[in-house]
Amino acid sequence: MYLTEYEQEMLDGKYGAAQAMALKVLVAVGECFGAKRLLEVSRVHVASSNQEADVWFAEKLLKLGGRCLVAPTVNPGFNVSYLSQHLSISKKDAELTERTHRAYRELGAILTLSCTPYLEANVPRFGEILSYSETSVTVYVNSVIGARTNRESVQSSLCAAITGRVPEYGFLLDEYRKGSVLVQVEADLKSDFDYQLLGSCTQKIGPGVPVFVGLPQNLSQEALINLGTQLNTTGSYAMFHIPGVTPEAPTLEAAFGGREPERVVTITDEDLQEIHRKISRPPGKIDFAMFGCPHLTFSQVQEVAQLVKGKKLAVEMWLLTSSLNKELARRTGMLEVIEEAGGHIVEDTCIDQPCWSHLKGKVGVTDSPKCAYYASMRGMNFVIRDLAACVEAALKGEVS
Ligand code: F3S
Repeated sequence: MYLTEYEQEMLDGKYGAAQAMALKVLVAVGECFGAKRLLEVSRVHVASSNQEADVWFAEKLLKLGGRCLVAPTVNPGFNVSYLSQHLSISKKDAELTERTHRAYRELGAILTLSCTPYLEANVPRFGEILSYSETSVTVYVNSVIGARTNRESVQSSLCAAITGRVPEYGFLLDEYRKGSVLVQVEADLKSDFDYQLLGSCTQKIGPGVPVFVGLPQNLSQEALINLGTQLNTTGSYAMFHIPGVTPEAPTLEAAFGGREPERVVTITDEDLQEIHRKISRPPGKIDFAMFGCPHLTFSQVQEVAQLVKGKKLAVEMWLLTSSLNKELARRTGMLEVIEEAGGHIVEDTCIDQPCWSHLKGKVGVTDSPKCAYYASMRGMNFVIRDLAACVEAALKGEVS
C-alpha cells in the first residue's frame, strides 16, 4: 500500500507507539481489502460496547501514550448513577463502565454515549470520509447523508481516531456504492414501524446494495433509521438507495450507476407479515416495555409522552435516548409526564448491557426488532409491535 512520508513515519513510531500500532492495524485491514492508499478521516464514531475486550484495546492504546487526532463520539454503555437508584447494579459492572469512560475520556473521545450520532453531535456532510462503527450509524450516513464509511469495528474506528486515517476501499469508492439489487416494494407501508419489517427481509433481498422503489418520497427520519438498522442487523448492509432520497441517487438510473440490476426482488404485504410473525413472540401478558434501540429521536419521546399523559403504566417502561433528548424532555415537561405515568427516560444507555439482568426470563414489548434480537441473548423475550401499540400494551400489561 502506498504511504505518504508522514504515514510511513507514523508507522515507524516517530509519533509514538500508539499511533504506530493503530496505523499497523489499519494498513493490515487495508491490505486485506486491496486498498491502494490511506485517506484522511474528518469524523469518527466508535461503537464501544463496554465489554472487556473493547476496554482492553482502548487501555492498551492509552498505555502506549495514545491520543485521538480526530476526537470520536462513542456509543452508550449504561448510566450507572441513574440506574443504581432504580436497579441492582453489581460493583463489577459499574466498575467496567467507569473504566470504559475513563479510557475513552483520556484518549480524547467525546463522551456522547449515544448510538445516533448522525442526529446530533457528530453529523457529517455529503461526501465526508468517515470511520463510523455501529449498526444504524453506518447505513444512515452512507444512504441518507451521502457521507462515506465502511462497516467499521470498534477497534478499526478507534485506530482511525488515533491516526486520522482510514484505508481506501469498499464504500469509500464510487464503484462499490452503486446499487446492485432492485427491490420493488409492493407492500403498503403505513407507519415507521413497517420499515423495521421491510429492513428485516434480508433473506429475500440477498447480498448487494439494495435500491428500493415504490416507497413514498416524504419518508420520516425514523422510517429511514428503522430501514437501515434492520438491514444491518439481520444482514450486513452498509448502504441502500432510495431514488430521490439518497443524495447519490436522484434517479433510478443514477442509483445503479447506469448498470443493470443483478437481481430484481419484490416485497409484498405477505412478506412483511411473515417476517413479523417470525421475529415476534405471540401476544399475551408482558412484564416490561423497552424502547430506544437505536436511541429514540425527540419526536418518538414526544409520541410516548402524549400516549401516557395522565395515565398509569401497568409495567415498567424504559425509554433510552440521548442526553440532549432527555434534557429537552425535561425542558418541555415530557419527562415529568412520563415519570408521573411510572416510566423512565434514561440517557447514555444501551439495551445490550448487564444492567438489565432483572429482566432475564421476562417478556417485554418493543418496537425494535434489533432490541429483541440483542436482548434475547441476555434472556429477555419480546413481543414486537409499533410504538403506539407497545405503549398501549404497557398501560394494560398485555399485548392483545
Ligand atoms: Fe444502541 Fe445498544 Fe441498540 S448501542 S442501537 S441501544 S444495541
